[in-house]
Amino acid sequence: MKAGVQMGHNGNGKSGTHHITRSAWSGKMGFILAGAASAVGLGNLWRFPTLAAKYGGGMFIFTYFVLAFTFGISLLLLETALGRHTKLSVIGAYSKLNSRWKFVGVLAAAVPFIITPYYCIIGGWVTKYLCSYVAEGADAVAAEGFFTSFITDPAFTYVFMIVFMLLCIGVVALGVKNGIEKANMIMMPLLLVMAIGVAIFVLMQPGAVEGAAYYLIPDFSKFSPELVINALGQMFYSLSLAMGIMVTYGSYLDKKESLTQSVASIAGFDLLVSFLSGLMIVPAAFMALGLAEGGTMSAGPSLMFVTLPMVFEGMGGAATVIGIVFFVLVLFAAATSAISLIEACTSIIQDGTGWSRGKSLGLCAAFVIVAGCFINAGYNVLIWIEPLGPGTQLLDFFDFLSNSVMMPIVALLTCIFVGWIIKPKAIIDEVRASSKFSLAGPWTAMVKYIAPVLVVVILGWNIATQFGLL
Ligand code: PFF
Repeated sequence: MKAGVQMGHNGNGKSGTHHITRSAWSGKMGFILAGAASAVGLGNLWRFPTLAAKYGGGMFIFTYFVLAFTFGISLLLLETALGRHTKLSVIGAYSKLNSRWKFVGVLAAAVPFIITPYYCIIGGWVTKYLCSYVAEGADAVAAEGFFTSFITDPAFTYVFMIVFMLLCIGVVALGVKNGIEKANMIMMPLLLVMAIGVAIFVLMQPGAVEGAAYYLIPDFSKFSPELVINALGQMFYSLSLAMGIMVTYGSYLDKKESLTQSVASIAGFDLLVSFLSGLMIVPAAFMALGLAEGGTMSAGPSLMFVTLPMVFEGMGGAATVIGIVFFVLVLFAAATSAISLIEACTSIIQDGTGWSRGKSLGLCAAFVIVAGCFINAGYNVLIWIEPLGPGTQLLDFFDFLSNSVMMPIVALLTCIFVGWIIKPKAIIDEVRASSKFSLAGPWTAMVKYIAPVLVVVILGWNIATQFGLL
């Protein structure tokens, strides 16, 4: 994080640096795929299904859908338009419009610097699982203690993390058009096909229908403010909002491409993959854990790395194949998101220092590897550090700091900046430069009034629940 902040301060922040060799998408399709690739990630594949199962299945999906297509899409539009308007990544974008608000850009820029290292640690776990399915088969992966013995084994976790990082850094090194766009063009369609395939396969298993029914049929008695707050938090993370990425991506977009259509497609793709992940994971978890426990199934690592391998193992002859397909799918989702994070960090360094893209990526890579090793040490040599209480690790702390604290703060300041300081007209004009924008009125109300209130509620809730006040 520190590196990100310092870069912001040290960066000259003046226009001009970006004239050197600013990257660009080859067209709208490249932009939409990149936005979707950033959005679709581990958040869709394990967090969404867990939340959906916990908060009444269909009820959660419905709430999430409404929020994503009102609140989420409004902020997505705001960020991409801000980037395209200024043609700068996040720090430059804020300081160009009002130099006193540069600090918001610096805060936003710090978020991908915090997320990237730990996201790559999980990417390393996924890589390890894929290799183990290929080399050892489903039984070995489902064996008791497999996950714990892996993450507490210092050597292997570092190796897999670095392999995953180098893979993603390699794609970014090839450039926006030749690297990121091409990788997305291959991985995103395959990801969708695999998600549909695995979902169909899981649904055909005995006992899956009950889980699917729970997932699809709304239970209105489960509606609660807590559900809405969790859906909102998930939406931020899933759409990669409030962390500078969409500003950067917007800055690579040509003035003639429609922003409104693009952001609707990105949100739609993200929602579709979340929905499909639920369709594969919720019934699978029900089969493994039974109806009562399925609704409160464990979140995060244990669901994906312990429960699912057990479910796959129960599928007999197909177990290894389904395990491989599933972890290739997760690997693609994690890699495309990590690539977007690394690209955002690189672009921030490049705009802040005026360095070449290659040199900026070099610094970014060095930072990500060193910070990744540090956070990963939280599972082994630094396991005695329990930043958020007993049983928590460094990774949990950085996840909490970036997603639960910094993202809402950045979102709040962004809405105040656009709604009250530079005024919404600048963004509306930018959107209208390439498409009609008949919903400019409701959008303005969202940015000026509704979003700030919702974001303050999320922030308060996150902090209160973390520290046991609720
Ligand atoms: N949106 C990604 C997910 O749902 O997993 C996570 C993510 C990617 C967060 C990129 C932030 C980001 F910049």
